[in-house]
Amino acid sequence: MSSSPVIELIREKLDIVDVVREYVPALKKAGRNHKAPCPFHNEKTPSFTVSPDKQIFHCFGCNEGGDIFSFVMKIEGLTFPEAARKLALKAGVEYGDERSHAMTESDKERLEIKKLLTAAAAFYHKTLFTAAGEKARLYLGERRLSKATVERFELGWAPAGGKALMDEMKARGWSRDLALKAGLITEREGGLAADTFRGRIMFPIRNQAGDTIAFGGRVLNPESQPKYLNSPETILFSKRRTLYGLHEALPQIRKSAKLLLLEGYMDVIGAHQHGVDWAVAPLGTALTAEHAGLIGRYAKDTVVMFDGDRAGINASVRAAEIFMEAGLYVRLADLGCPLDPDEFLNEYGREEFEAKMAEASDALEFRMNLFFKDRKAPPTSQEKAQAIAVLLETVAKQPDEILKSEWVKSLATRFGVEEASVHKQLRKVPAAAPKEVKRGGAQEAEAVPPIERGFLQLLLRDPSLIEGAAMLEPEDFSSRLARKIFNAIRALAPGERAKAATTLAAQFPENSALIMGLAVTDLGAETSAAQNSAGAIKMLKRFSLKRRIKELKDAEPMTPRQFQEYSRLMSELKSSVKEK
Ligand code: UTP
Ligand code: MN
Repeated sequence: MSSSPVIELIREKLDIVDVVREYVPALKKAGRNHKAPCPFHNEKTPSFTVSPDKQIFHCFGCNEGGDIFSFVMKIEGLTFPEAARKLALKAGVEYGDERSHAMTESDKERLEIKKLLTAAAAFYHKTLFTAAGEKARLYLGERRLSKATVERFELGWAPAGGKALMDEMKARGWSRDLALKAGLITEREGGLAADTFRGRIMFPIRNQAGDTIAFGGRVLNPESQPKYLNSPETILFSKRRTLYGLHEALPQIRKSAKLLLLEGYMDVIGAHQHGVDWAVAPLGTALTAEHAGLIGRYAKDTVVMFDGDRAGINASVRAAEIFMEAGLYVRLADLGCPLDPDEFLNEYGREEFEAKMAEASDALEFRMNLFFKDRKAPPTSQEKAQAIAVLLETVAKQPDEILKSEWVKSLATRFGVEEASVHKQLRKVPAAAPKEVKRGGAQEAEAVPPIERGFLQLLLRDPSLIEGAAMLEPEDFSSRLARKIFNAIRALAPGERAKAATTLAAQFPENSALIMGLAVTDLGAETSAAQNSAGAIKMLKRFSLKRRIKELKDAEPMTPRQFQEYSRLMSELKSSVKEK
């Protein structure tokens, strides 16, 4: 959906109910909403609904829906700029001029926070070269970072005292409120504030455009915890969508369409210093579908290379599966030793490193290699069966049927078993996610079970409820559509929440009718949304547990691993019943 400061200003000044009423005089208040017979199709009972809370309209009869702009476009048959110009006139906003007077308060605030973060990055960077930063400088030297690299990534030092940044920013006229919103200072008990980052090496985190939007800070003392601290989520910063190093890597990624995904800050910086300047990393979270989508926009050839330890290997397999589910092709690389990429580069250099990247293999081959590595005797039949059962979990996630059957073939060959029995076994693996089928509005609505619909309605009405849903995973929804919407709400930056419904409808045009319909449904104002949501979360968790338990039972005979999971889930289910 098109947006700019002027558009936002128009949105702020006009109320959709007033705009619609000019064209639909029959509009009447009904609960929180307004209703009328639909102006877009013939009907007797009114199913055309306007929500003043959400500033959107939706017709449950014909599935038309949108915001004030799409309403005027549709009803008058105008293009977006024509409708916007018309509404600008009505709102008393000058449409031709998009300069600062047309900026909304929230645009202004975002801009101010960016400026403050830029100033903070400069302060930390400058401090690195003062006496206070000496230890940090020595440490960066030990890590073999050159001065040029330190400059390029604008690394810095946050003094340990706890007030250095706060005092400096205050002296320069920045408000405490803004510093809080930027995540640079944190309120402690009793309302006192202190610097968020104290005694840490600072890594400014930039967005694609190169603006500083957050920080990561690493301790010097290996005993201190946590090793890395990231800025909290802010109006500018969402971990789930940010990749460290992307701004620096984009020119090379655009040129070559290849991308190297590493695990951490130091790996990315080390890679760039060695000329491997197409490297990026997530920020201490597992890779998300949003990350994968972002990467898919730029890169055709993505190699994932995480640390060589167990955690790194598991994380890289999981990352590969997320790419797979997003329909993207990736390869996994293994350094073949317990060194981190940046240590490996320092030890063996770029050529050896690139050779390891060239050996990268797809997710299944990678996992098979792990199984056969260091194995002296050939596996027994039972070991084979167990290993195949585990590997089939990856195979089952492959959405491409051709690749899937190729994978079955190579599993059979590599383990020396019959292909037909691998196929049979694969059918017993619970489907990762049911295939999405295109359906019309009404049927689609039915495809989302009531409890999931109800929860999404709550979320669309108040997206900040997502904060209380940390324990929910997308898998806890049985409907793929609910999962998708849940994911998308979770991925919204806090600043985007106010317009969740229209943003999501624009993101998923094929489901926009359902999304708008959920958003305008009148839930009544009686019970607290937070309470409803807490109840719904518990129920979703229980249902999801039960579903998984049933899947395991259906898969009988269970592998030892499945049986373990089964027992664990059963006791979880029992304790969740007690809790109620
Ligand atoms: P690592 O522990 O592998 O650290 O975490 P690293 O990147 O190799 O750092 P060095 O080499 O010890 O300096 C990998 C990534 O996980 C996130 C960070 O983004 C880090 O770069 N992380 C790690 C955190 O967010 N918090 C932590 O406490 C630890
Ligand atoms: Mn490391």
